[in-house]
Amino acid sequence: MQRFVQSQHVFGIWKPGLWCCLREHARWFAAAAGPPSQKRKLLADGPTLADFLVSTSGDHTGSSVLSKSGTPTRLLERQIDSRRKRPTVGASASVVEALRALDADLAETPPAPYKVFIETYGCAMNTSDSEIVASILAARPDWFQLLNGPSASPDEADVVLINSCAIRDKPEVRVLQRLSMLRAAERGRGQRAPRRILGLLGCMAERLKTRLLDEMPSKRLVDLVVGPDSYRDLPLLLQGLVRTTDLQRFAYHVQLSLEETYADIAPLRDHGLITAYVSIMRGCNNHCAFCVVPQTRGPERSREPASIWNEIESLGNEGFKEVVLLGQNVNSYCYQSDHPYPKVTKFADLLEGVCEIAERHSMRVRYTSPHPKDFPHEVLRLYTRYAPGTLCRQIHVPMQSGSSEVLRRMRRGYTREEYLALVARIRDTVGADVALSTDIISGFCGETEAEHAETISLMEQVRFDQAFMFAYSERERTIAARLYADDIPKEVKLRRLGEIISTQLKISAERARAMVGTEQRVLVEEVVHANERQRLDSEISGKQATPAWIARTESNRRVWIPFSEKHTVEGPGPMHKHRQPCIGDYVEVSITGVSGNRLIGEIVN
Ligand code: SAH
Ligand code: SF4
Ligand code: F3S
Repeated sequence: MQRFVQSQHVFGIWKPGLWCCLREHARWFAAAAGPPSQKRKLLADGPTLADFLVSTSGDHTGSSVLSKSGTPTRLLERQIDSRRKRPTVGASASVVEALRALDADLAETPPAPYKVFIETYGCAMNTSDSEIVASILAARPDWFQLLNGPSASPDEADVVLINSCAIRDKPEVRVLQRLSMLRAAERGRGQRAPRRILGLLGCMAERLKTRLLDEMPSKRLVDLVVGPDSYRDLPLLLQGLVRTTDLQRFAYHVQLSLEETYADIAPLRDHGLITAYVSIMRGCNNHCAFCVVPQTRGPERSREPASIWNEIESLGNEGFKEVVLLGQNVNSYCYQSDHPYPKVTKFADLLEGVCEIAERHSMRVRYTSPHPKDFPHEVLRLYTRYAPGTLCRQIHVPMQSGSSEVLRRMRRGYTREEYLALVARIRDTVGADVALSTDIISGFCGETEAEHAETISLMEQVRFDQAFMFAYSERERTIAARLYADDIPKEVKLRRLGEIISTQLKISAERARAMVGTEQRVLVEEVVHANERQRLDSEISGKQATPAWIARTESNRRVWIPFSEKHTVEGPGPMHKHRQPCIGDYVEVSITGVSGNRLIGEIVN
């Protein structure tokens, strides 16, 4: 019953009037309202997404929905009318026509599949989502051909999907500029060529919902808007769109979900990768004052552990060498199963299972991001349990600010002192050489010079190996936008950001120099051949350019290893004995120097 109430909340706050939402959460209603057999029949007879699109196409207030049988169903009118919200699934009349036709001849496929190009912006979560989108589309090879790969270009694509980020204003502007460029490029394709479909996916799609579709058709930057929880419907929406050349066409689906984790979809990863991102949870319940993510990715939900462990096992069998577990707050991972008996799996349990598998396959494990407010000690204890290099001794601990007062306004749930205590606990348990990275925001609402100085002093106290640093960018409808004035002038934010960056550069360089003379086990990620000689020339100060291996330490630093004939590794068979290292090999290197922020190494045979 509690869940039933939750879902009402979803309709009321986020998505009024959605049949597909009802279908998605229908079992909760069934649990509250009737026997399962009756519910199954209702679902089977119920409307499809196409029905919903038909019903919403002419009526953007979404106040009435037609069922498959043609009976108008009034859904949650009160909420819809009072909030004047748009439905979150929709399409133009021409697309609806196309979908109707599609219903009749679903078996009929196009003469050639439509070429789809996916471009990704934002965090690792978006990279992982693009792999899920690719997998969903690749399941219909008769309809869609994916163009991604090193030589692919959007120029030859019939459909370009931009997976976008909304975290700050800058990434949004970049995506809008990219969309304008792609749209402008169509003019060069001539009148006769059918207009290419441009789709916006990801966090910006969810944040802006139908705003970009409100433009006049000739000025519209996109034809399709699909949020992070609606990717399963992409094939259907695209099938409707590609079937019409009408300039008025558009389609959107920005329904957030309480339970979608795409657990059953095997992401389609690029060939040749050795690092795999594995999404373990979606959404976030934290509502830090500055952050748009809870709006764009919805409430937190954890993916079933067995599906994660199975994926890691497959990655090991496929030869991947590193897995990065992804979530907005991985510490709060919590999966509750009822079968075969009630059991709760927390992040430490999940990670333990992942490490067991990774150790067997000689894979490295990383995770991002844990939240400093609730870092579980059981997770730290795992670092002493596994073979060196399995659970990488590198932890991202996003601090955001060094001032307890700013942290309070940010609603981060910890103080400066608690943060420092966590850092001490991590170094005590994992080891003094653990590499720490962080995120920092400059110029949050009301930040004084003294509070900014506290951030610099915390950086100097902790001495992070790496930091991701940003100027505060106000996001609509966040707690900060509602409660506080964005009152730090841009030039002050940037000056403070500059001070934060130069502090970090100094610390990073000192920490890098401290590694000279140590031996590190590194994973080869790239081989740079002689034809990139000029790039090498400029990067390795003044020396004759030579080809090199680029590898990564457990602490997540890049190491440049100039080629040398004498450097060999043991291959698997007699034929491969003493071969040159390849991408995906672990090698022992001695750190011989530092160039800029990068380490220089020499293989120790
Ligand atoms: N879930 C992660 C954060 C993901 S967003 C965590 O809590 O660590 C990545 C980073 O973007 C944040 O840590 C923060 O430093 C930065 N960020 C988020 N919103 C921002 C905003 N409105 N302005 C500037 N930086 C922001
Ligand atoms: Fe945003 Fe905070 Fe959630 Fe991170 S933990 S995604 S910063 S709300
Ligand atoms: Fe990631 Fe950007 Fe969304 S940081 S979660 S893609 S807003």
